Amino acid sequence: MNELIAVIAGDGIGPEVVEQTTRILDVVHPGFTYEHHGLGAEHWLATGEVLNDETLEQLKLADAILLGAVGAAPGSTAIPSGLLERGLLLKLRFAFDHAVNLRPSKLYPGIPTPLSDSVVAGKDIDFVVVREGTEGLYCGNGGSVRTNTPQEIATEVSINTAHGVERVVRYAFELARTRRKLLTLVHKHNVLVNAGGLWRRIVAEIGEQYDDIETNYLHIDAATIKLVTQPDQFDVIVTDNLFGDILTDEAAAVTGGIGLAASANLNVDGTFPSMFEPVHGSAPDIAGQGKADPRAAILSGAMMLDHLGYGPDADKVRKAVEEDIASSLGATRSTKEIGDAILGGLV
Ligand code: NAD
Ligand code: IPM
Ligand code: MN
Repeated sequence: MNELIAVIAGDGIGPEVVEQTTRILDVVHPGFTYEHHGLGAEHWLATGEVLNDETLEQLKLADAILLGAVGAAPGSTAIPSGLLERGLLLKLRFAFDHAVNLRPSKLYPGIPTPLSDSVVAGKDIDFVVVREGTEGLYCGNGGSVRTNTPQEIATEVSINTAHGVERVVRYAFELARTRRKLLTLVHKHNVLVNAGGLWRRIVAEIGEQYDDIETNYLHIDAATIKLVTQPDQFDVIVTDNLFGDILTDEAAAVTGGIGLAASANLNVDGTFPSMFEPVHGSAPDIAGQGKADPRAAILSGAMMLDHLGYGPDADKVRKAVEEDIASSLGATRSTKEIGDAILGGLV
């Protein structure tokens, strides 16, 4: 009951959406102890440190981590691109072995979507992307030589291990069992024959133990089409780190926007704390204006409640968010007003 939650509110809209999330968690599940870590852009600018070993050790002791967002504006030169993303966010995902990056998408009734009526009407659009979280092109296995010369060579090598692929694929099959029993592997094995071959083989092998699950396959390019033409045909999508990153922004865009997209970075063997964060970033374009939608962060908080074994409390949060969505269609509200409305729906 008295779990320790490490909070990294981060940059831009991160603190704004996290504030609403902890307000709601405090009501639905009093008793968490929050330990705030002032990491992110300002911390780096003030100290020259992104995440030191001592803080990493402290974070290890938490029962879960709640993260807002980190990162500077994409065009900014004040902070080197990738410094915070690689040095903080990815460092945590890798150090705490967040094998499964779970990203659900659901189109709630009435929510604005760029999808046409013919795609949406009468359809149940509700799927989950199970994104591998520790491997692929994200590993940092690359470098550049002859940098800044016309002969520059830059490499990023995608790492795919049988171990890493197996555990995320197994997780996806288990998840499909609790849902509509359909699993789609997304890759690009017609070009990435080595990595794609490994993923395909492992899905086929593990699939033999899941007779009740229908499996199919799409290349990533075709998957981006289907996500906007027949999104109701997806249930569980399993894919690698980069394809999953891209697909989940698209998934968010077609199911009500990035302001609703939640995620969990799960350590599947319980050796380190899992981390919960909205899919979106620090949104420097709207930061400090009270415009951020906190519901992605709040729904990530619900995923944290699920993970910690408080399913009924997680359901309460999701229900309050769903009711809020239904009752606020078309309204323009501030971050706090949205938080207030969801709080009101809880009590
Ligand atoms: P972004 O997700 O921050 O913003 C993309 C667009 O979505 C912007 O127009 C923004 O205003 C809007 N948006 C995002 N969240 C919103 C919300 N809750 N409510 C309303 N609108 C919202 O992506 P970006 O602009 O590519 O990246 C900005 C910074 O964030 C970069 O430094 C990037 O590396 C970082 N980033 C961090 C994370 C993370 O910490 N998990 C995730 C993605 C990007
Ligand atoms: C996300 C983000 C991160 C990712 C970046 C900021 C490292 O885009 O959580 O989707 O690519 O995983
Ligand atoms: Mn992303």
